[in-house]
Amino acid sequence: MGKFRLGVIGCGSMMENHVRGINQLDCVEITAVCDILRDRAESVAASLGNDPKIFLDYEEMADAVDGVLIALPHHLHYECGMFFAHNGKHILMEKPLCNTEEECVRLIDYCDEKKVTLMCAYPVRFWPGIVKLKEMVDSGEYGQMFQMSIWTEQLTGLNSSVLDKRRWGRTSCLGGGQLFSHGCHYIDLLLWFMGEPVYGTHVGTNLGTPWMLREGTSAVTMKFESGAIAYHGGTWGARGTRLLYDFQIHTEKGMLEYDHFAGEVRLYDSNQMHRPGEETESCQYQVVWSRGSDATKETQHEIRHFVECATTGKKPLTDGRSALQGLRVIWALYDAEKRGEIADLRGLGLAKDGE
Ligand SMILES: NC(=O)c1ccc[n+]([C@@H]2O[C@H](COP(=O)([O-])OP(=O)(O)OC[C@H]3O[C@@H](n4cnc5c(N)ncnc54)[C@H](O)[C@@H]3O)[C@@H](O)[C@H]2O)c1
Repeated sequence: MGKFRLGVIGCGSMMENHVRGINQLDCVEITAVCDILRDRAESVAASLGNDPKIFLDYEEMADAVDGVLIALPHHLHYECGMFFAHNGKHILMEKPLCNTEEECVRLIDYCDEKKVTLMCAYPVRFWPGIVKLKEMVDSGEYGQMFQMSIWTEQLTGLNSSVLDKRRWGRTSCLGGGQLFSHGCHYIDLLLWFMGEPVYGTHVGTNLGTPWMLREGTSAVTMKFESGAIAYHGGTWGARGTRLLYDFQIHTEKGMLEYDHFAGEVRLYDSNQMHRPGEETESCQYQVVWSRGSDATKETQHEIRHFVECATTGKKPLTDGRSALQGLRVIWALYDAEKRGEIADLRGLGLAKDGE
């Protein structure tokens, strides 16, 4: 079988990461590139070396592709997804799937009807360090997990060239605040690691990120059916950071950590716990997995999975329904925050859709 013919739509900041990922894969070839801004489409096409067709209107590119990667501003995801589903093309949709529940449900149902693969681009789920962390938790070797924390600290929006490029990100086109737009990765991850949520809270602020229409900094707490709890803190206003992207899991036998930028999975054994005043040279942790120096967004793993699902009919790990559950959690957290209440997060998953 020949290579999967992929069309890419929206040649902005995220597409640069995707092209780096795709260039590492043998199973897929970008045959069509689309952006309403010709120079952006041309610049992506020039970085490929296989002379793909360039389009300014995605409605003209369906014949040139087996599937598409949609990396458009959020308010355009639904319409573009529906167009390619209608044309029988497989869809890898950048997160968040769509801006409303109604759009998500319609797109999911339509892709089912047209028998096309719909996958949401959540690359974090496929990062080898995260996969390693999940395997360690699932092995049972460390006992039960009782707490997971995820921190993400970034600065977006201060730099004027970023603002010019992503003006839509400061408007209602974003569909929500930092939690909806970026935190959706980590709500998705918490559900994957921890199972069905029971209740939770969100508080957000746009102090420190005045360019945001809604919150630029979020704190989420959640409790799960297992009894375990989770915390997610994310900011787009960090002028300094120590943690960057950090994932920590407390289990009965120790603490497991994935430090994304260091590219390490670490085990902090309770017997080696550092106490104040003690020498720190006897290492507090053991490195159990190391990535090496590549600190890109690592999208090649999710794209490989998408192509495998599209060509075999396998259900994607991050399919439309699992993406929708994560967004429902976020919408429930936002609604409860407005009312000053704790959000009831039960029954937002697949059972609600009759599966
Ligand atoms: N996974 C991640 O870590 C990550 C990071 C950043 C962005 N994203 C996602 O990627 C998507 C795009 O974000 P971005 O930061 O690249 O935005 P961007 O504004 O940098 O790029 C969007 C591009 O879409 C083009 N465009 C707009 N309307 C179009 C249309 N009708 N047809 C064709 N092209 C059109 C714009 O000209 C622009 O080049 C969003 O869903 C965003 O959430 C994901």
